Amino acid sequence: MEKVPVKVCIGTTCYLLGASKLIDLENQLPEAWKGRVAVSGCTCLDLCDAEGVCNAPFVKVGDTVVSHATPISVMAAIADALGEPLPQEALS
Ligand code: FES
Repeated sequence: MEKVPVKVCIGTTCYLLGASKLIDLENQLPEAWKGRVAVSGCTCLDLCDAEGVCNAPFVKVGDTVVSHATPISVMAAIADALGEPLPQEALS
């Protein structure tokens, strides 16, 4: 089974607007998702232009862009990509 790719933008704009809370996202994933999600960082997703800056931080889950990304909103997008409900442990 192909892993769901998750790209966390840790560029300056996203980092300053909250991506610092997403850096250890891989360690926050529910146990059932370990090995099924590939988390990586990138320096800029080219979404932080003048119009996009208000929507940072950004994360891409597959082809889906999550704006105002938080650990829980990213996990919700991962659940969508996997076609599963969000595990209870992700909410705690
Ligand atoms: S710094 Fe995150 S999209 Fe540019």
